[in-house]
Amino acid sequence: MKFEKHIFICINERVAGATRKSCGEETGNAIAKRFKELIKEHKLRLSVRAQRSSCFDMCEQGPIVVVYPEGVFYKGISVIDVNEIFEQHILNNNPVKRLQLTFPNK
Ligand code: FES
Repeated sequence: MKFEKHIFICINERVAGATRKSCGEETGNAIAKRFKELIKEHKLRLSVRAQRSSCFDMCEQGPIVVVYPEGVFYKGISVIDVNEIFEQHILNNNPVKRLQLTFPNK
């Protein structure tokens, strides 16, 4: 794996009047920007990557952020939550349980 941590931030946007909400219309871009700032501040550009992504089909629980290699899905993320995810999960390998999306079959 090229990166120690690979962060995907949904920024999908739907057309006006769509029935489902979308992460991009919420705070997806601001979340991505904050992750990139933290990576730069910590000089981790060679080992941690944050990139914008399209829809994970979990829109109603968005904004959605996914961190690999663990495959942890975070739901309802705000820009303020990014600091906690970065500090605990990205820097200390300790995913933030209170923000995780849980799956019924796991
Ligand atoms: S729009 Fe973000 S998960 Fe669907």
